[in-house]
Amino acid sequence: MKKRILTGITTTGIPHIGNFIGAIKPALELSKDYDDSFFFLADYHSIIKNNSTDEIKESVKSIALAWLSCGLDPTKTIFYRQSDVPEILELTWILNCVTAKGLMNRAHAYKSAVSQNNNDPDKGINMGLFSYPILMAADILMFDSTHVPVGSDQNQHIEMTRDIATRFNHLYGPLLTVPDSIIQDKQKVVLGLDGRKMSKSYGNVIPLLESQKTLKKSIMKIVTNSLEPGVPKDSKNCTVFDLYKNFATEDEIINLQTAYDEGISWGDAKEKLFLKINSQLEPIRNKYDELYQDKNYINDVLHEGATKARSYAVEKISLIKEVIGISKIT
Ligand code: TRP
Repeated sequence: MKKRILTGITTTGIPHIGNFIGAIKPALELSKDYDDSFFFLADYHSIIKNNSTDEIKESVKSIALAWLSCGLDPTKTIFYRQSDVPEILELTWILNCVTAKGLMNRAHAYKSAVSQNNNDPDKGINMGLFSYPILMAADILMFDSTHVPVGSDQNQHIEMTRDIATRFNHLYGPLLTVPDSIIQDKQKVVLGLDGRKMSKSYGNVIPLLESQKTLKKSIMKIVTNSLEPGVPKDSKNCTVFDLYKNFATEDEIINLQTAYDEGISWGDAKEKLFLKINSQLEPIRNKYDELYQDKNYINDVLHEGATKARSYAVEKISLIKEVIGISKIT
């Protein structure tokens, strides 16, 4: 059987280097090993928690351009917007009708939202959040994906997708491909400015696409201890060192270790980190600036991606509708 990898990118926020190291780079690497790859912008997922029109628009654009600037080749990978493939929503409804409510009750994201409420367990919870895993299952099952790379926080959703597909196949025959997950972030937690995991919600991110000046400013803000220049520094539990490791070669890492032993100043260590990161981000940033100027480019790319994706989706949804009895009257 063909190996087909598919992954969705929720379009919230603006890309940071944690996304680059933890998601974009590994997904692009992985796509080389598969017969075909589908990467899409999960914009319908993004409206569950965000109703700022402008933020959603800006986020879709910057995330799409970030992936393309980082090397996603839209002639090799099918790259599209979820909302451009309406068959996904048709499938979502169909899957709603084979999914046990009890299964959704167990979803971590939903349970965690409930547990933050006091008197009214339903406060602030919309049906989008509750049935989030079903939309995700439709994303995956629509295209007969065999492998789904995700962060470990998403593993339960893949398990649920497997459950839903198995249930459908039990009811109607083996039409849906039951996918496997590929957990991507086992060893790659990228630390943010304050030493916690880099995340938009902690406000500790280093931007991916901002100017060189902003990048430098951001790196200079990394929290360190107050050891003076000349005093040996510990590279363990050191955010600067940790970040450096994500970008440097083995030799460069050894050299920085030596500099730590010899008491490099924090200013100089950060300068080294900046130069290292900047050398890798510069071509990405330049590409991004170039693509950002070209108003038609992104729309053309996504239009083409949607056309390709729909050529699968239209055929699949018609087979699915046929087996459930929603088809031509005979
Ligand atoms: N929920 C995923 C996340 O937050 C994004 C996503 C949506 C996805 N649909 C998907 C990932 C389908 C893999 C497959 O990261």
